[in-house]
Amino acid sequence: MSKINDEKVDVIIDKKGLISADSLPAKPDNPRFAKEQYIAIFKAEIKRPGADAMLDYLENKSDFFDAPASTRFHLAEKGGLVMHSLNVYHRLKMLVANEKAIIKNNISQESIAICALLHDICKANYYTVSHRNVKQIDGSWTKEPYYTVDEKFPFGHGEKSVFMISQFIKLSGDEALAINWHMGAYDERLARSFTKLGQAFEKCPLAVLTHIADMQATYLDEIE
Ligand SMILES: [Fe+2]
Ligand SMILES: [Fe+2]
Repeated sequence: MSKINDEKVDVIIDKKGLISADSLPAKPDNPRFAKEQYIAIFKAEIKRPGADAMLDYLENKSDFFDAPASTRFHLAEKGGLVMHSLNVYHRLKMLVANEKAIIKNNISQESIAICALLHDICKANYYTVSHRNVKQIDGSWTKEPYYTVDEKFPFGHGEKSVFMISQFIKLSGDEALAINWHMGAYDERLARSFTKLGQAFEKCPLAVLTHIADMQATYLDEIE
C-alpha cells in the first residue's frame, strides 16, 4: 500500500495502483481539497486511452472545478460540482461493494470512477453568474450574485455527459447506460413513459446503483 499524501489529500492505493473498495478516502469539505482528491482518484482509477485529454479538458478547458452543482438546490456554490461528483463516487463505491454478491458481472473500480466522477460533466461550462437587486433590512438595495443557466450545447443531461465523455474516452455499454440514465425517474425524457428506464435498470446494475448514489449524495450528503 502507498499513499498519495499532500497534507489534506489522503488516497490509499493498493498493490495494483488502484483504490480498493474498502479503503475509501475521507471526503474533503472544501473545494480546493476536493479538486486535489478528484484528480488523485481520476489518475489512480481511470487508465484507458484518452483519460489524460479528458482530465486536461476538465482542468484547463472548462469551468468544471469552479462550477456549482446546481443554481440553488444542492451545493450551489463555487466548487459544488466537484464536491457532488466526489460524494457520488463515495456512495457508488459503497453501493457496489455492498451489492457485490448479487451482481453477476463484476463492476470494475474504473467503471465506478468513470460513472461517478463524470456523470454530471454536462454541467461544465453550463452555469453563469448573474446579479439581482436584493432589499436589505435597512431598506437599501444591493446587487447580489446568483447562479443561472447559460446552456451552450442543448443536448440534454445524462445523454449530454455521455456525448462529452465520448469525445475523449471510449465508454462500455454499461457505463454509457449508467451515465445516460443517472437521473432515474427525474429524467425529462420520461414525461410520457418509464419503459426505457425500466429496461436499462433491469439490464444494468451499474445504472441502478449510479442513480441511487446520485440520490444519496444529493439528498443525504448535500442537504444543509
Ligand atoms: Fe445529474
Ligand atoms: Fe449528479
